[in-house]
Amino acid sequence: MGEHAQIIRTQVGIVGGGPAGLMLSHLLAKSGIENIVVEKRDHETIKNTHRAGILEAGSVRMLTDSDVNGRVLTHGMEHEGIDLRFNGVSHRLNFTELVGATVTLYPQNEVFVDLAAARARDGGDVRYSVSDTEILDLTTDTPKIRFTGADGQAFEIHCEILVGADGSQGICKWAIPAEHRTDNFIEYPFAWFGILTEAPKSSDELIYANSPHGFALISQRSDTVQRMYFQADPDEDASKWSEEQIWDELQKRVDGPDGFQLKRGPIFEQMILKFRSYVCEPMRYGNLFLAGDAGHTVPPTGAKGLNLALADVKVLFEAIDSYYATKSKDLLDGYSEKALRRVWKAQNFSYWMTNMLHTRKDANPFEVKRALGELDTVAGSRYGQQYLAESYTGWPHS
Ligand code: DHB
Repeated sequence: MGEHAQIIRTQVGIVGGGPAGLMLSHLLAKSGIENIVVEKRDHETIKNTHRAGILEAGSVRMLTDSDVNGRVLTHGMEHEGIDLRFNGVSHRLNFTELVGATVTLYPQNEVFVDLAAARARDGGDVRYSVSDTEILDLTTDTPKIRFTGADGQAFEIHCEILVGADGSQGICKWAIPAEHRTDNFIEYPFAWFGILTEAPKSSDELIYANSPHGFALISQRSDTVQRMYFQADPDEDASKWSEEQIWDELQKRVDGPDGFQLKRGPIFEQMILKFRSYVCEPMRYGNLFLAGDAGHTVPPTGAKGLNLALADVKVLFEAIDSYYATKSKDLLDGYSEKALRRVWKAQNFSYWMTNMLHTRKDANPFEVKRALGELDTVAGSRYGQQYLAESYTGWPHS
């Protein structure tokens, strides 16, 4: 294959054209650093992959300050807080008032669409629908990406820095030899049943609900489309549920003396999302650097996945930019440690939110009531609320 491959030279080779890879490509290009992105999926598939929808203020700033486009400001919905609901009672956490920060509801696929459009507008080299991707020579000065282009032509990218932004199912982290990598991993006995429905909003902002029947999250997409989730078994078959069963299950989990009723409508997507927590340490091997889900996965509770990916990209961009400006590798050498500090904070937050809000199938009454004591501790004091609010809205970027 090598003999027939067309060789392309660039400074930074990026595997993965999701939000992390595209944001990095965009920032590098603005700084005059050449780069190429390869992505195995096609544009339409990524655009239609529904993920989380909450952006920290720092993530919004990355999109607006770098001239991606203004859609996150015109189409995103700024949220000042959330409701924590337990024992059938809602407790409002006002982030603006607690920590002077907000979050923005703006779905991940819209972030992808904006970044892909910005790369196309600025003449970026992003190759979708590639196959047979391999990375090699990672500890040399010329790491390489081999792949077959959408047209069947074999290519080899010769770069100086190789970035693995290829998500949790990607190939890059597995290219780090096992003896140079620690896989930190836990599974949860939980999954989410996620739906998209054509219905009016049931609530203006998000409701995170703990109930004897399990967790539910009431989120939104627009005035006419809503996103909701409820805790389910990881091996549940989503296609077996009727619309009525789904609505009844969601309603049970938000029932309370206030008589809160979800506004129902036709469901046009229903799927199971499995959970896990994973961190690859370090997030670097030779001239390979991992960013986003390629290096770590969080459970969805608290919506940290995309935000963490963008925070990695910020640190990595600054390191690569400094390398090309000064020829010093100091910031590149510090990348993994710096990124991992935020990663472990986010792992802790996601784990904490998940365990506090979900109910184990085999939980005994002590555990159920202990979790309610924890929710009461958080919701019942300004300090508790601030702890959650600070983590949810995102620790300051470096
Ligand atoms: C959404 C998903 C999350 O995991 C979360 O914590 C908040 C919102 C969403 O899809 O809207």
